[in-house]
Amino acid sequence: MTITLRPLPAPEAEARLPELAAILVDAVEHGASVNFLAGLSMEQAAGFWRGQLPGLADGSRQLFVAEAAGRLAGTVVLTLAHQPNAPHRAEIGKMLVHSALRRQGLGQRLLRMAEDAALAAGRTLLLLDTETGSAGELLYRRCGWAEVGRVPDHSLTPDGRLADSTIFCKRLNSLAQHP
Ligand SMILES: CC(C)(COP(=O)(O)OP(=O)(O)OC[C@H]1O[C@@H](n2cnc3c(N)ncnc32)[C@H](O)[C@@H]1OP(=O)(O)O)[C@@H](O)C(=O)NCCC(=O)NCCS
Repeated sequence: MTITLRPLPAPEAEARLPELAAILVDAVEHGASVNFLAGLSMEQAAGFWRGQLPGLADGSRQLFVAEAAGRLAGTVVLTLAHQPNAPHRAEIGKMLVHSALRRQGLGQRLLRMAEDAALAAGRTLLLLDTETGSAGELLYRRCGWAEVGRVPDHSLTPDGRLADSTIFCKRLNSLAQHP
C-alpha cells in the first residue's frame, strides 16, 4: 500500500475532523499517553483537533499527515514557540500512527517532515515530552533526539496510573539533521 505524507491545511483539517479524531481515539484505546484518558469519545477528540485549527490557520502550527489509500493514517503537529525570546524554538506533538500501520517507518517519516518544516521556518531547537518507556521514546531516540531528563509521575496513563515522562530536545542544522 502506498502511503503519502503531506501538510494538512486548516480548511482540510476542519473538513476531516472525524478522521483526525479517529486517529487520536485509536491511540488512546491502544494505551498511548497523549493527554487523554481511556474512554475518550470521538466528540472529545474532534474537540481537541478543532482547538488546533486557529493555529493552523494563522501559521503558528503545522499539521502533517500520512494517508493510506486516501485515509488518514498518522499525524504530527509542529507548534512554533510564540514567546519573543524563543524565535528559534518549536514543539512536536500528537505524533500518532494508526495502530494497524505501526513499525513500518511512518512515525519516522512524519517526524522528519515536521523537523524539515521546523528548520524551514527558522526553528533550530525542538522540544517534546513522552511517556517514559513508550514507543514514542524509542522513536525519538532512533531519530537522534537527546534526553533532557525525566519528570516523575508527570501524567496519568489512559488507565489512570501515574507514569514518568521523558523530555527530549533536538537541535537542527541543515548539514546533519537526520541520523
Ligand atoms: C510512537 C509511534 C508514533 C511510532 O510510530 P511508528 O510508525 O510505529 O514508528 P516507526 O515505524 O517509524 O519506528 C521508527 C523506529 O522507532 C523505534 N520504534 C518505534 N516503535 C517502536 C516499538 N513499539 N518498539 C520498539 N521500537 C520502536 C524503532 O527503532 C523503529 O525503527 P525499526 O522499526 O527500524 O526498529 C506509534 O507507536 C504511535 O502512534 N504510538 C502511540 C502514540 C504515541 O505514543 N505517540 C508518541 C507520543 S509523544
